[in-house]
Amino acid sequence: MNDMHDDIQEIILDESDIRDINRRLGEAITKDYADKNPIVLSVLKGAVLFTADLIREIKCPCEIDFMAVSSYGNATKSSGDVRIVKDLDGDISGRHILISEDILDSGLTLDFIIDLLKSRNPASVEVCAFTVKDIENRVCKTVPKYVGAHVADQFIVGYGLDYAERYRNLPYVGVLKPEVYS
Ligand code: PRP
Repeated sequence: MNDMHDDIQEIILDESDIRDINRRLGEAITKDYADKNPIVLSVLKGAVLFTADLIREIKCPCEIDFMAVSSYGNATKSSGDVRIVKDLDGDISGRHILISEDILDSGLTLDFIIDLLKSRNPASVEVCAFTVKDIENRVCKTVPKYVGAHVADQFIVGYGLDYAERYRNLPYVGVLKPEVYS
């Protein structure tokens, strides 16, 4: 059996780091959204693990919904060509939307999603990004209100993040060995 862990060069966020991050984010969100009954909008597939952990740290009422978009396919760089694979189920007009994303990389995916949501007249739209890549000269408009961790500009997988659909089930975030994708 191929051991996924052998493909990882270095762990950058282990299970305890992830727990701490989710607790901190959950506390801040609980304060800010105490009476707002937000919709936590999880962007499939990558954010599913993060969302599941995050909402258990949010101690005020909230709802969840899902949207699936695809911008990477099996490539390692965003194409900028974002496609909606699954739209939200419910009406969001007048609602507070908190988008939960696993990673902000180029930011093109979130720019696209936020523009689309704003056209549907929500009360507010904010972003909670588990990771934000440190990239110089990012051109996107999106500025996440909540950030779990800043990460270096490396190819990372695990805790929802994939390469060609693999590694999402790793319980940590790690750097993929370049020989795996080059
Ligand atoms: C990944 C990730 C974000 C997006 C971030 O999604 O989950 O949604 O890329 O990249 P960006 O900031 O450069 O736009 P992907 O399209 O790979 O789909 P997935 O969530 O199903 O893995």
